[in-house]
Amino acid sequence: MKIIVVDYGSQYTQLIARVIRELGYYSQVVQFDEDIEISDIGALVLSGGPASVYEKDAPRLPKWFDRYRGKVLGICYGMQLISHELGGTVEPGRVAEYGRTQIQIVDKDLIFSEIEDQQTVWMSHGDHVKKLPDNFRVTAKSKDGIIAAATDDKRFWLLQFHPEVRHTVRGRDIIENFLSKVCGLSPNWNLEDFVKQKIDELKEQLAGKKVIAALSGGVDSSVACVLVHKAIGENLLNVFVDHGLLRKNEENEVPRVFREMLGLNLIKIDARDLFLEKLRGITDPETKRKIIGEQFIRVFEKQAQNYGATHLVQGTIYSDVIESAHSGKKTAAIKSHHNVGGLPKKMNLQIVEPLRNLFKDEVRIVGEILGIPRSIIHRQPFPGPGLGVRIVGEITQEKLEILKEADSILIETLKETGWYEKTWQAFAVLLPVKSVGVRGDQRAYDYVLALRSVDSVEGMTADWSRLPHEILDLVSRRILNSVKGIGRVVYDISSKPPATIEWE
Ligand code: XMP
Repeated sequence: MKIIVVDYGSQYTQLIARVIRELGYYSQVVQFDEDIEISDIGALVLSGGPASVYEKDAPRLPKWFDRYRGKVLGICYGMQLISHELGGTVEPGRVAEYGRTQIQIVDKDLIFSEIEDQQTVWMSHGDHVKKLPDNFRVTAKSKDGIIAAATDDKRFWLLQFHPEVRHTVRGRDIIENFLSKVCGLSPNWNLEDFVKQKIDELKEQLAGKKVIAALSGGVDSSVACVLVHKAIGENLLNVFVDHGLLRKNEENEVPRVFREMLGLNLIKIDARDLFLEKLRGITDPETKRKIIGEQFIRVFEKQAQNYGATHLVQGTIYSDVIESAHSGKKTAAIKSHHNVGGLPKKMNLQIVEPLRNLFKDEVRIVGEILGIPRSIIHRQPFPGPGLGVRIVGEITQEKLEILKEADSILIETLKETGWYEKTWQAFAVLLPVKSVGVRGDQRAYDYVLALRSVDSVEGMTADWSRLPHEILDLVSRRILNSVKGIGRVVYDISSKPPATIEWE
């Protein structure tokens, strides 16, 4: 039994699915206009969204909605849509409510079992339901008198506020009440079972096949490769391409962990000279990204052919799947992302994506269950083109060495002070700018290094980390004292948007 969350475009849709999974129920997000199999739906949730039910092109109920006979939780836009479709009225944005609001539970309802009558909830709406459809009753009101919750006691439970958001103090309990008390479901989703089932499934699917993977040492590809390795052992060939744009010592660390500790069949390809050669004289960021992506594919393709591979493992995770479903509908490419690791369709390999249905936190737990060391599982994201997009301007061997050294000082200092796991991503960027300084009695003329550290949830938006001055000071002094070639250190205080996380 799965819980289906229909996405109407709210920024919180993924969060609904995550909370449901954390409560122990398997949930999946679908687009409102997507056709799906409905026989195993245990409960349905309609998410919030930015539209107004009166707009001409407003998203409607899914085509299959009338065939589904189970219970429905409508949140925000979901509530308004159900009310509108069943003959109620929605009032366009006269009384907007944003942020924390008080509601009063005015009538008993299973969804509020063991929840005090006065509650703090998170609201984010312009429109609201003015008149409910027939046979519905109001179960909670906001302090402005708006209908905050309602039900028909049969099929529909409606909430104007967002139970999935942390600021709704008893939000998780409300969702739990809906699933267990209203729908009568019991939790049945846990990751140990997922791992066992997935390994059995992969054993069957890949029996006798030759499977290949590009293993970078990033969280997702690592977990995907170890999972497939548990299923088919030596028949999975993991290719680790050392393009020279990796962080300090990674070219030794990744083979040590995966080959020596975890026993994977891994080959390391030393392509450092090739990449450096192809990148010589190139300064344009997009051209650099394209070159790195293309060379990576070439190197990898050769290995796949030599090996006679028929299948390719990829570390796609659930947020990638949801994001591409979303972005299919809008937005231009800001950067040619995922060009590295996103291997081409023309390779004619069948794709194996064992983590396709998991969120990042779940991928990490699976990694722990599989015995992958914490240093890999809790590692910060690293872009496919690596240090190539962190050396602004031309990439040279000398600059790579300087940057690796400085970056590792930053990371080590953050680890030492407990800040590494508090930030989403921290790194150093080498600028094509030299600045005057003084060393001893001598004039110096060295590179400027930018430190960047950001807080983020999925990398889509980000804010710069408020690292304590003492830590910035420690990092700066360590770098200036020990990295030859750097004469000045600055801290990047730009949020995304408008800046991106990486500099190129
Ligand atoms: P931006 O710079 O676009 O980065 O704000 C958002 C997140 O994506 C990572 N990133 C990449 N990841 N291939 C990847 O796999 C890429 O080409 C790439 N470029 C950026 C970046 O590190 C951040 O976590």
